[in-house]
Amino acid sequence: MAVYMLGILVPVFLSIWFSKREKKSKDRAVTVEVGGEKGLTKRNWRFEHLLETPWEGADTLAILFEQTCARHCDNLLLGTRILISRETEVSEDGRAFEKVTLGHYEWTTYGQAFRSADDFASGLVAIGHEKGERVAIFAETRAEWFLALQACFRRNLTVVTIYASLGEEALVHSLNETEVTTVVCDRKQLKKLVDLSRNLDTVKRVVYMEDYGNTLEPSLSGSSSKWTVASFSHVQSLGRQLPANPDMPLAADIAVIMYTSGSTGLPKGVMMSHRNMVATVAGVTTMVPGLGSKDVYLAYLPLAHVLEIAAESTLFAAGAAIGYGSPLTMTDTSSKIKHGTKGDVTELRPTLMTAVPAILDRVREGVRKKVKTKGGFTNTLFQFAYKRRLAAVEGSWLGAWGLEKHLWNAVVFRKIRSVLGGRVRGMLSGGAPLSGDTQRFINVCFGVPILQGYGLTETCAGATFCEWDDTSVGRVGPPVPHCYLKLVNWEEGGYLFTDTPMPRGEIVIGGPSVTMGYFKNTVKTEEVYKVDENGMRWFYTGDIGCFHQDGCIEIIDRKKDIVKLQHGEYVSLGKVEAVLSGSRYVDSIMLYADPFHSHCIAIIVAAQAALEEWANDTGVQYSNFADLCSNPATIKEVLSSISKVAKQAQLQKFEVPTKIKLLHEAWTPETGLVTAALKIKREVIRKTFADDLKNLYQ
Ligand SMILES: *[C@@H]1O[C@H](CO)[C@@H](O)[C@H](O)[C@H]1NC(C)=O
Ligand SMILES: *[C@@H]1O[C@H](CO)[C@@H](O)[C@H](O)[C@H]1NC(C)=O
Ligand SMILES: *[C@@H]1O[C@H](CO)[C@@H](O)[C@H](O)[C@H]1NC(C)=O
Repeated sequence: MAVYMLGILVPVFLSIWFSKREKKSKDRAVTVEVGGEKGLTKRNWRFEHLLETPWEGADTLAILFEQTCARHCDNLLLGTRILISRETEVSEDGRAFEKVTLGHYEWTTYGQAFRSADDFASGLVAIGHEKGERVAIFAETRAEWFLALQACFRRNLTVVTIYASLGEEALVHSLNETEVTTVVCDRKQLKKLVDLSRNLDTVKRVVYMEDYGNTLEPSLSGSSSKWTVASFSHVQSLGRQLPANPDMPLAADIAVIMYTSGSTGLPKGVMMSHRNMVATVAGVTTMVPGLGSKDVYLAYLPLAHVLEIAAESTLFAAGAAIGYGSPLTMTDTSSKIKHGTKGDVTELRPTLMTAVPAILDRVREGVRKKVKTKGGFTNTLFQFAYKRRLAAVEGSWLGAWGLEKHLWNAVVFRKIRSVLGGRVRGMLSGGAPLSGDTQRFINVCFGVPILQGYGLTETCAGATFCEWDDTSVGRVGPPVPHCYLKLVNWEEGGYLFTDTPMPRGEIVIGGPSVTMGYFKNTVKTEEVYKVDENGMRWFYTGDIGCFHQDGCIEIIDRKKDIVKLQHGEYVSLGKVEAVLSGSRYVDSIMLYADPFHSHCIAIIVAAQAALEEWANDTGVQYSNFADLCSNPATIKEVLSSISKVAKQAQLQKFEVPTKIKLLHEAWTPETGLVTAALKIKREVIRKTFADDLKNLYQ
């Protein structure tokens, strides 16, 4: 034990000795003069001109696929785990869970993938899909999704994608609006389509991807029986028998129409050209050092999401291997993995991953719980090691000494790292803001940079991306080398690009990745897209950002969340909510400000444990939690708590709600009141609690 302790202490002291060097900060973005609206514009510091293609001539995804497959012909491209067995386990309380045992990854090389996609492209012609008609892909993320996409590109067919979570009405609307004639789907979605077939007037053909070990013909009924239904492999074999010459697109042709949720009403289809998508690939490629054919990527996020399409396109352009998995089978302890067998990540051992914040939060909680249950020395050692590494990552003790790092890695973090396979060298996070705590936790425990990016479907994913050596939290990095980022004044909101010390304003993105607008919706397109005098496209994001000294962006507000009160004061709903969430009694909160009143009100989901503790301490009687939440004394206590945190944060009087409604039921994604990333859906909450809001303003 003594030797052990000495082994720990010596490097720690040496490390402290050699430390305390000031960290230098470098400029990561450069100011430029460009056209369009007045503002402050920056570009990435490394490239004087915006990148448009990953290499000369690769100006469509179709040609990119052809060239990449030729270049990396014998490298592995697509990996899929074969199902070995499926069983149902029943838990003690009688609920049934499906558990699967999955085998090793089986791989397709770049050369094989090219032939597969080419066959499928010819097969589409063989089953009667005409030039100019659109194809929808509606399935969970898997290798066939990727192949179908490439096949459509080879035939200059526009692919329509729809978030599975958008619901039936949105699905019917998207397929109808784009007049899709062929849908490529998995068996699960096929069932959904059959149920909706009465409303799907334009669909003529459905191609379903087979499930491993399920060779039964799907059963059809009703109006769907007028469809031509064929399996994915059948279409491929038709294509092999009847090869068709490719029909390659031009850079300006629309590659994908991606339907995303609007904050109100029906979803909007964002039109992405080949030019948009190859620009994103070109820019993002430069942000990951050493990206190449040695990299292995775990693909599991929905491909209907721009983040995943951009990530997979970037990885494959670099010659890397893409192994497919799913959120439910990701780790050894994932809910669908049979106990004692391997999850996707331990089987694949990826070097790069993408994640949305909700998943990273889950990983963090998992590690925390595990360490806590071990208790004792393990816990103490973990806490100490964590503090040391945290200080190092944050730069306060960063010395040239790597010894201490290796020590902690060997003693404490190696085990944790093996949860993700042990080879991960970087993670990208996008889709929603990542909390600083979680970012740090992953940095320390997994010893890898976690690169936060910012972008929208309308900007074809990444518009900013943290650099590999940037250890800060809470920021989203400088503009990527394929676009400009401009801050323009939003005077009503009080954000100006001349603000000091940090310029602030609405974020506007310009360059080749800015998409072509919304499908069949010129009004909305003209509202948020502008073309300047030099022909450059700009997208107005509605997000408010500020430039840090080094040119990195921090997102600080959202334009549509700002309301002007009766006396002309502006209330930033998001900002105030973030402050008030600091009260221990607040689980979730939606602030509401009506322009016809001079003060705000709020709907608050109460934090059960904290309120019950208060009730116990003060002797307030209650029969159940709902009862406690409706007690005027409770409401008074919560109001006083939020005004305290508001005061500490120096909120203005008109920003603090004068009246609140206290709810006892949590807002989960299932309720429809918050998104999967737990962002509140203002419009839905407003509608759901319309009566309460009205009463509060009386
Ligand atoms: C690709 O398809 C679109 C839509 O049908 C068409 O307008 C365009 O001209 C086609 N491109 C080429 C190069 O044929
Ligand atoms: C499909 O679109 C057409 C117009 O293009 C419209 O008349 C029809 O009502 C739509 N059908 C559904 C089910 O939305
Ligand atoms: C409050 O008191 C009840 C009954 O005494 C007890 O069951 C509960 O655990 C207490 N809750 C808290 C948060 O202290």
